[in-house]
Amino acid sequence: MGELDGRVAIVTGAGQGLGQAIADRLAAAGAHVAVFEVDTAAGEAGAAALAQRHGVPTSVHHVDVSSSEQVDAGVAAVLERHGTIDILVNNAGVSHVGPHTQDVTDEEWQHSIGVMQSGVFFCMRAVAPTLLAKRSGSVVNVSSIRGFSPNPGRMSYCAPKAAVLMMTQVAAGEWAESGVRVNAVSPGFQRTPMWERDVARGAIDNDFYENLVPMKRLGRPEEVGDLVVFLVSDRASYITGANVVIDGAATSVPAG
Ligand SMILES: NC(=O)c1ccc[n+]([C@@H]2O[C@H](COP(=O)([O-])OP(=O)(O)OC[C@H]3O[C@@H](n4cnc5c(N)ncnc54)[C@H](O)[C@@H]3O)[C@@H](O)[C@H]2O)c1
Repeated sequence: MGELDGRVAIVTGAGQGLGQAIADRLAAAGAHVAVFEVDTAAGEAGAAALAQRHGVPTSVHHVDVSSSEQVDAGVAAVLERHGTIDILVNNAGVSHVGPHTQDVTDEEWQHSIGVMQSGVFFCMRAVAPTLLAKRSGSVVNVSSIRGFSPNPGRMSYCAPKAAVLMMTQVAAGEWAESGVRVNAVSPGFQRTPMWERDVARGAIDNDFYENLVPMKRLGRPEEVGDLVVFLVSDRASYITGANVVIDGAATSVPAG
């Protein structure tokens, strides 16, 4: 028996990378997983793998989290398919690296804020009636060390990641009395498709970052997955409004 047996989890952006690993660890603990993805093919492949590996019910919903209409429709579809919602993991993200503030385009800014700030808000708002009515449930918002450790060339990335930390605390305070917990995780440098794409186009120097991290390696997506399982489980019953940094001490040294 898994500690999340029968609980229904929505994971956004679970088609690959951290979201896929988070979905995998949740399913391994017995959760039913609903994937919100713009890359439906990746979402379908990921969900099929989860169902096969862990034998849990899964579903995939074509949801662009930057659209409140799509989020609301996706949440309604999850309620219809799975009957309830217990867990939301706001993971979907996009990476814009390079231009300094003066060169950031409206398009880049709106895209980044739309997915990683508005998307987090839309999803929290959409699941709130279900969680508050049940007087239980748990939300984990994936921020980043870039939510509190600034990085030149990442204005449109750092801004929503910082906002996510504040939105986590506001919602945690609002919903604490109703038994609904809201936490953030802030990963450091993780080897995911997002990371590999940034390395491939020369925006990130992999060796530099591996050497920068005091643990001398990048994070593994399953390590974030295990952290999320802990935070949504009953073992973390008094933890809400927290931001858990998982970065191999990258931001514990001055250059991080
Ligand atoms: N990779 C890292 O080093 C790192 C570090 C800290 C935080 N993060 C954060 O972790 C999260 C996952 O990152 P990753 O590295 O796995 O990225 P990734 O690009 O590998 O995967 C992101 C997933 O999100 C999906 N997605 C993108 N826009 C979407 C939208 N509008 N609606 C729904 N789904 C959407 C993509 O299709 C993709 O499957 C992001 O929020 C990212 O900012 C990543």
